[in-house]
Amino acid sequence: MSGSGTGLLRRVHVRPKERGPGPRPARPERPAPLSRTEPRPGHRRHVGLRARITITFALGAAVLSGTIAGITYFSVRSSVVNQQTTSLYHEAVASAEVLRPELQLPVAAWPHLLEGASAGAKEAILYRKHDWYATSPFPAPPSPLPAALTRTVMSGNAASETILVRSTPVYAVGVPIPAVDSAYFALFSMSEVAGTLHVLLASLLLAAVVVTLAGALLGSWAASRALRPLHEAAEAALDIASGHLDTRLETDEYADLAVLTTAFNSMADRLQDRIEREVSFTSDVNHELRSPLTTLAASLSVLEGRSDELPERSQRALALLGAEVRRFRRLVDELLEISRIDAGLSDVSMAEVPLGDLVRRSVSPSPGPVPVEFVGESAESYVVVDKRRFERILANFLQNAQNYAGGATRVKVWTAGEVARVAVEDEGPGIPPEERLRIFDRFSRGSSGRRRGLGEGTGLGLAIATEHARMLGGRVYVEDNVPRGARFVVEIPLLKEAQ
Ligand SMILES: Nc1ncnc2c1ncn2[C@@H]1O[C@H](COP(=O)(O)OP(=O)(O)OP(=O)(O)O)[C@@H](O)[C@H]1O
Ligand SMILES: [Mg+2]
Repeated sequence: MSGSGTGLLRRVHVRPKERGPGPRPARPERPAPLSRTEPRPGHRRHVGLRARITITFALGAAVLSGTIAGITYFSVRSSVVNQQTTSLYHEAVASAEVLRPELQLPVAAWPHLLEGASAGAKEAILYRKHDWYATSPFPAPPSPLPAALTRTVMSGNAASETILVRSTPVYAVGVPIPAVDSAYFALFSMSEVAGTLHVLLASLLLAAVVVTLAGALLGSWAASRALRPLHEAAEAALDIASGHLDTRLETDEYADLAVLTTAFNSMADRLQDRIEREVSFTSDVNHELRSPLTTLAASLSVLEGRSDELPERSQRALALLGAEVRRFRRLVDELLEISRIDAGLSDVSMAEVPLGDLVRRSVSPSPGPVPVEFVGESAESYVVVDKRRFERILANFLQNAQNYAGGATRVKVWTAGEVARVAVEDEGPGIPPEERLRIFDRFSRGSSGRRRGLGEGTGLGLAIATEHARMLGGRVYVEDNVPRGARFVVEIPLLKEAQ
């Protein structure tokens, strides 16, 4: 068994079952992603699993790092501020102690004494017998001091409070000196501590952002690892959907994925089995129908050769029988062709050919003479096609024009960008817009087909042309012809080097 893929689950191809003689099945290209995976208009677009896991990791990291940063900041702040204020408080009390005996000196000496006693303070204020003295020119006393603090100190108790003076945090301490009917106030600047705390806060926030980003990266990595087996399973399912029925999953070492793998593989086994049985049944039925039909057609041609000898009613019956047998024969041929395409049993043999030769050759067996017009240098352009398939597409267009529109009026060939287009034009009834997609469906006959009453069509011709064009890497479509009628177009890629 050979494996492919690098994930935990690997895709392998089981040995193909006996298919009997015949060409190797062509491996069609994997189809475009299923349309149900595309968001429908008006539907809310759901966030992908990978994005959800990444967001969860990032949110988890953000909450965790934010909480740790918050706890760290507030505990450091409270401890630093406590330490600082305690030491400043003691300093203020000590200064008041130093001042107390010196307040007996004359008033003129106090400012000097005040400055000497309060070296660490931003500002010192002294209250003595209804007068206020300060180390700096002091506004009407005691304006920078909070009223509550002043009241507490005046009532004989030391007190402290952190206040804002000109947007700077200041620690104010008041100490009563009752022995000399005074009070001492010291104001300490806390801006240094505040600055340190700001730096700490910024660093913690930065760390939280970095941790959040790391969490998102980790989440994205974990999601891609966890989802890899799912991707492998999806790839294998797409492989199977595109016709590689022998694709299977293989487990390496992760036992917990074995349930998924086994279920997937047994589903693929059953699917392969069923499809192969259906394909062989369809082609058996087709083959079995062909031999009696050949006998029927041979007997019919004998009867038709002698139809003159038959009475008129029998001649009419014979004509009807002939038309129906021919229709049935074509139906069986077309069914066989379409079932071979479906089963991937139809081989494609691509060759480089000049567009001019290809189109002229494909048009030559047409029921009537049809003018072919090459626009510009299109006849010299090269395409890579399976000639037989291309001829079948044009033959179908030409036959339809003959059947439903009185014959093709022109075949036009031109190139556009990377593609070549060949159009079969007619001046018949045209295709109504609402039928332009439907007529390419299997067994679908348009209004002009049904008008023919008994008719000979089976409604498979354009469906087969669509499959052929797809296998050539192109497409078929219909549009209005000018001035009237329909214009059936086959579009195939141009050979790259020749463009
Ligand atoms: N040139 C045309 N003008 C008008 N109608 C057309 C033309 N070509 C095709 N159609 C319509 O498209 C329908 C489908 O065509 P298609 O070739 O698939 O089937 P069919 O001709 O009915 O049967 P068959 O399988 O035998 O070709 C036709 O029944 C017809 O109604
Ligand atoms: Mg047809």
